[in-house]
Amino acid sequence: MTSTIDHDHLVDAKVTTDLWRTAVVYQIYPRSFADSNGDGIGDLPGITSRVPYVRSLGVDAVWLTPFYPSALADGGYDVDDHRDVDPRLGTLDDFDAMVRALHGADINLIVDIVPNHTSNRHPWFVQGLAAGRGAPERDRYLFRDGLGPGGERPPNDWESLFGGSAWAPAGDGQWYFHCFAAEQPDLNWENEEVREDFRRTVRFWADRGVDGFRIDVAHGLRKDMSEPYPPWGEIADLMREDGSHPLWDRDDVHEIYADWRRIFNSYDPPRYAVAEAAVHPARRARYASTESLGNAFNFDTLDADWRADDYRRVINRGLADMINNGSTTSWLLSCHDTPRVATRYGLPLEKDRIAQQVAREWLLTDGVTPRLDRAVGERRARAAIMILLALPGSTYIYQGDELGLHEVADLPPEVLEDPMAGRSTKEKGRDGCRVPLPWTPDGRSYGFGVEGAHLPQPDWFASYAISVQEADPNSTLNLYRRALDLRSQLFVGSGLGWVESESQVLCFERGGGVRCVTNFGSEPIALPSGDVLLASAALDTGGLPTDTTVWLRTP
Ligand code: GLC
Ligand code: CA
Repeated sequence: MTSTIDHDHLVDAKVTTDLWRTAVVYQIYPRSFADSNGDGIGDLPGITSRVPYVRSLGVDAVWLTPFYPSALADGGYDVDDHRDVDPRLGTLDDFDAMVRALHGADINLIVDIVPNHTSNRHPWFVQGLAAGRGAPERDRYLFRDGLGPGGERPPNDWESLFGGSAWAPAGDGQWYFHCFAAEQPDLNWENEEVREDFRRTVRFWADRGVDGFRIDVAHGLRKDMSEPYPPWGEIADLMREDGSHPLWDRDDVHEIYADWRRIFNSYDPPRYAVAEAAVHPARRARYASTESLGNAFNFDTLDADWRADDYRRVINRGLADMINNGSTTSWLLSCHDTPRVATRYGLPLEKDRIAQQVAREWLLTDGVTPRLDRAVGERRARAAIMILLALPGSTYIYQGDELGLHEVADLPPEVLEDPMAGRSTKEKGRDGCRVPLPWTPDGRSYGFGVEGAHLPQPDWFASYAISVQEADPNSTLNLYRRALDLRSQLFVGSGLGWVESESQVLCFERGGGVRCVTNFGSEPIALPSGDVLLASAALDTGGLPTDTTVWLRTP
């Protein structure tokens, strides 16, 4: 299929919509959100039925992680067909109905594009394997000859991000390359057929009314696979500042996005895109540039520990990025790949390791050591989201964080779905943040569906249920709702000014004299003067208690 860009409507290659500069986006992991037919798997009709809930949060958009046909070797990121719906999750008609319901509630929709790899069940890969060495069908992927007389050893010692070799045998002396699971063969982005197919995919969803795209592994598409291969030891550090890594963040990846940007901008309004790019922070702005994807996740916030200095540093860097590329950034506290924020902040703070690492190791003990202080974690997570929502830029909220949910640490090994768990003894994997949401305090799956849930929910989910929190004015859910409502009224413009404060206190001002103040210290501090608009915890001591954020209007 050749280009069908409507040149009359082609606007100049810049992102022209404003909504996305400040949008709050709610991330839905479809298999774990709401199950409409009792098979234990969340689905698209389930999402449609819960649109009123999403609307009640006050978010601008929803990002859906993959719902495409998949064997679920990697939570749906192993895609069999990029232009269809997994029959277990629904049909294209269900998709259209969901889009109508979201749009009817004034909520935009972002879907995942997974361009780095397909699944091993994708027709292209099946054809490639069958066609044999040297066949053009193999050129869509990265097949290489193995070492040894019969090619019985992999071409080099490169490792997959999920553990083990990055090569899997084709059975005829050749091997194929996979950055992730062996069920996720990497595509060859030098191949024009691959490029054309993804143009088609992007248009397919944009034509169906999708408003934006989250680009999976956006920094991985271009690779230098030429020989001689550097040994893994030389390239195991994946982040470089100069674009010279053979697999990650190469400069020419932006040619692909400049091409897509023309497609995005051929729509009215132009389609939005955000990069998942785990790159050196100094290189993130390239992905957020208006000629490339236009926005990029600010993963620094995921690595920030509960310290005023961490937040100051991350915010300053994020703001500098925004200024330098005339674009915007997307802050986030959790996603489907990280231990939940309430848990990270409820574990002991360590000097040499960031909270994410501490939480991953804690998961390996099934959540036994070190001790998790649930209340402290939730309190800090509430204070943290109020910081993020007061910042210029866009914010992503992962489903369940609005309930203050914790990571489920004690899932038994036999129920784990994440390939990271099976392949690596150093990781328990990411299932603990993907357990289906509790909607009600009872029922077989706490209202997720009428039957069970594909990952077992713990008993303590009952007290976090949405219906329970709706009835409690002080719940985390109601704090999120109030914060989102106020945000849209209070924080306009892109300016932020730091207000001098003690080192344990974070204080910044946005336009109109509205300040965001957080006490990271262990003692209460005097409450700055002004009208309190919202507080993340009760202010009953008269001061600003520890681990608390307030928004106030200065006199
Ligand atoms: C992204 C996804 C993650 C997935 C990986 C491979 O990082 O967020 O869940 O495992 O890509 O597709
Ligand atoms: Ca279902």
